[in-house]
Amino acid sequence: MTSKRAWSGVDSYFAKTLIGSDAALEAALSANAAAGLPAIDVSAPQGKLLHLLARMAGARKVLEIGALGGYSTIWLARALPDDGRLISLERNLRHAEVARLNVGRAGLERKVEIRTGAALDTLPKIQAEGLGPFDFVFIDADKANNAAYLEWALRLSRPGTAIVVDNVVPEGEVIDAASRDPDVVGVRRMFEMIAREPRLSATAIQTVGAKGWDGFVLAIVV
Ligand SMILES: C[S@@+](CC[C@H](N)C(=O)[O-])C[C@H]1O[C@@H](n2cnc3c(N)ncnc32)[C@H](O)[C@@H]1O
Repeated sequence: MTSKRAWSGVDSYFAKTLIGSDAALEAALSANAAAGLPAIDVSAPQGKLLHLLARMAGARKVLEIGALGGYSTIWLARALPDDGRLISLERNLRHAEVARLNVGRAGLERKVEIRTGAALDTLPKIQAEGLGPFDFVFIDADKANNAAYLEWALRLSRPGTAIVVDNVVPEGEVIDAASRDPDVVGVRRMFEMIAREPRLSATAIQTVGAKGWDGFVLAIVV
C-alpha cells in the first residue's frame, strides 16, 4: 500500500469506528460533489477534532473563515449550545448557497449565518456590528491572507479564544523559504506573525490522512 492509500485507509477506519454514519454530513458531501464544489473540506476525523475543540473551549460564538459547502461549519455548529451562534465567511456565492442548503438540511440554520463576500471586506463589518468577541475561530480560506485573517481573529477575540488555522503544511512546502507560491508565502508570513505576537500561545501539528500531508495551527489568545 502506498503511503497515501494507507493514510486514507486509516482515516476511513477512524471515521467508521469513532464517528459512524451521519446522514447530514454525508448529504453535505454528496451535495457538494453534485454542485461541482472541490473536495477540499476537512476530513471526517478533522471535522470531529474541530467539534471537540470547540466543545472543550465551551464555545458559544464561533467565527469561520472559508465555508465551502459547510461541512466544517456543520461540525462546529453542532458543538454550540442552543443559544450559540456561528458566522461563516465565504467569498464564492455558489459555495455559500450550497453551504446554506447543507446547514439547513442538518437542522442548524437557526445557529448559523453564512456571509458572502471576501473575508477582508466582511470582517470589518462584523467588528462594526459588535458581533465579537468569538470564543473559537477557524481559519480555512485563501492561505495568502492567513496573516491578515489571524490579525482579525485577534481583534475579534478575548483572552482564552481558541484559533485553528488549517492547511499550514501543504506537502511540507511550508519550510521552503524561497517559495514564490502565494499560499506558501502567506502561511510563512502567518507563522512569523505568531512568533512575534505576545498575545498568542501556539503550536502546529503535521497530519497525514485522506487529504494528504498537511497540518494545522492551534493557538490560544493569552
Ligand atoms: C478549504 S475551503 C473551506 C473548507 C471548509 N472549511 C470545510 O472544511 O468544509 C476554502 C473556502 O474559502 C473560500 N475563500 C477563498 N478566498 C476567500 C476569501 N477571500 N474570503 C472568503 N472566502 C474565501 C473558498 O471559496 C472556499 O470555499
